[in-house]
Amino acid sequence: MDPYKCSLGILLIWLMQYHSSSALNSPFWTTNSGAPVYNNNNSVTVGIRGPVLLEDYQLVEKLANFDRERIPERVVHARGASAKGFFEVTHDISALTCANFLRAPGVQTPVIVRFSTVIHERGSPETLRDPRGFAVKFYTQEGNFDLVGNNFPVFFIRDGMQFPDMVHALKPNPKSNIQEDWRILDFFSHHPESLHMFTFLQDDIGVPQDYRHMEGFGVNTYTLINKAGKALYVKFHWKPTLGVKNLLEDEAIKIGGAHHSHATQDLYDSIAAGKFPEWKLFIQTIDPANEGKFDFDPLDVTKTWPEDLVPLQPVGRMVLNKNIDNFFAENEQLAFCPAVIVPGIYYSDDKLLQARIFSYADTQRYRLGPNYLQLPANAPKCPYHNNHHDGSMNFMHMNEEVNYFPSRNAPAREANPYPIPPLNLSGKRERGVIAKENNFKQPGDRYRSWAPDRQQRFITRIVSHLSHPRVTDQIRTIWVSNWSQADKSLGQEIANRLKMKPVMVRKTLPS
Ligand code: HEM
Ligand SMILES: *[C@@H]1O[C@H](CO)[C@@H](O)[C@H](O)[C@H]1NC(C)=O
Ligand SMILES: *[C@@H]1O[C@H](CO)[C@@H](O)[C@H](O)[C@H]1NC(C)=O
Ligand SMILES: *[C@@H]1O[C@H](CO)[C@@H](O)[C@H](O)[C@H]1NC(C)=O
Repeated sequence: MDPYKCSLGILLIWLMQYHSSSALNSPFWTTNSGAPVYNNNNSVTVGIRGPVLLEDYQLVEKLANFDRERIPERVVHARGASAKGFFEVTHDISALTCANFLRAPGVQTPVIVRFSTVIHERGSPETLRDPRGFAVKFYTQEGNFDLVGNNFPVFFIRDGMQFPDMVHALKPNPKSNIQEDWRILDFFSHHPESLHMFTFLQDDIGVPQDYRHMEGFGVNTYTLINKAGKALYVKFHWKPTLGVKNLLEDEAIKIGGAHHSHATQDLYDSIAAGKFPEWKLFIQTIDPANEGKFDFDPLDVTKTWPEDLVPLQPVGRMVLNKNIDNFFAENEQLAFCPAVIVPGIYYSDDKLLQARIFSYADTQRYRLGPNYLQLPANAPKCPYHNNHHDGSMNFMHMNEEVNYFPSRNAPAREANPYPIPPLNLSGKRERGVIAKENNFKQPGDRYRSWAPDRQQRFITRIVSHLSHPRVTDQIRTIWVSNWSQADKSLGQEIANRLKMKPVMVRKTLPS
């Protein structure tokens, strides 16, 4: 028998048996082992007033299951909402990539999407100023492709070595459990490459109105590879057909004061009412042969690729037309990972992406257990098979005797070869900062592109954070100096509002 059909069959049997307890529904309550429960109200006691007997297995089992209901929340992006739908190719990019799910206009692929906030805990309000996660899992016929992005096109830092420290600074003070500006501004005062990200976070778009009205970005650079093996750097962009909408401070406070799940509710209610949110997917591509031609490093995740130099190309659309059936199974247990790619798409040398490739599956093995990819929402929807074996909560028991490779007793299983990036790698081992940092130009350009009232709101937010009583004069001076370097009048205005002495601004350095 065709081994793929065989494993698919086993998967289906498994799904029927284990996926839904309602498939084996009994007309009465039972214990987990299936024994009938005739009294689900009262514990077994010595006499009607107690005490309770430890032999009350039914009570012990019920409490024990309850006691274990919570799993660790995600270390970041704990708070989220998800929905299902499909992706459809609208434009032919088969000359750029051999990815099967992008092979031709009209091809549809099922998706599950999870939107999230980043820093605060699983039950935190959805009105806080924070980046938003925008993670899409494409269930393609060549395996899943996870595009784990954010609603801003850039990131704070460019080396994963700094990520845990950054998150510690952004998370609550370990002593007081309160998020504190002085810790955040202290950490980032060492990282002027974060200025660009702050021109998004502290801009009006820092609090999206809800999840339907925000953009998504793959942020990191990936690589597209076509059938001939030609590689192109690529960035992915989602644009909502409903447009981008935000909440200003007073609106966020009003909504957040009344409802701490307004964005989850908005997504759920819209889909339930048949108003399906839709995003268009665009890409930007750069030929690696041209990567030196820009005043920034294209693999630097703190930079955008200006659209006048690197135009957006339309690819497809994504429609979310189905709510999840169970929050735990299809949100809490969802596992997205930037390392999960398909033939025709590859990583780039972007150092931050390289760190992410390790981190996600690692945390998921801890958070969900080693067989987390067998959970129905995470499992591929195409045939799959390997000799990975056993482990806790493994439901994939193949009826087979040859679980090793190579073997003369099992069918050959190798897939057809597909291209991988052709470039040779070379260089000495080193730890350091990229040559072309250019930290100040893009944030300055972005600030200057805004209308005066938008600039003023931005300044008000920056000044408010810098006014935290525990921000030292030294740190305030660094920030004013760095913002001045991005835009002289911006730095001056911040200094004035903080009633600081004028700061000496160095002449803009060449990049
Ligand atoms: C080196 C840098 C980074 C590291 C080490 C890192 C690590 C993590 C970890 C450990 C999680 C929790 C995953 C889970 O429990 O399932 C996570 C979630 C997430 N990260 Fe990152 N991250 C990094 C940078 C980024 C960047 C640049 C983006 C945006 C492109 C991003 C977007 C997300 C999203 C959207 C989620 C939530 C996925 C979901 O909804 O389940 N992260 N990250
Ligand atoms: C348990 O309580 C429910 C209502 O709360 C009642 O309908 C049922 O009869 C009770 N069962 C027993 C065995 O006491
Ligand atoms: C920006 O801040 C850094 C410290 O992070 C400092 O070393 C640097 O001189 C500042 N640059 C400018 C141009 O203000
Ligand atoms: C890459 O390295 C291989 C083997 O060292 C060599 O044959 C090939 O020409 C190199 N390719 C390029 C593009 O430099």
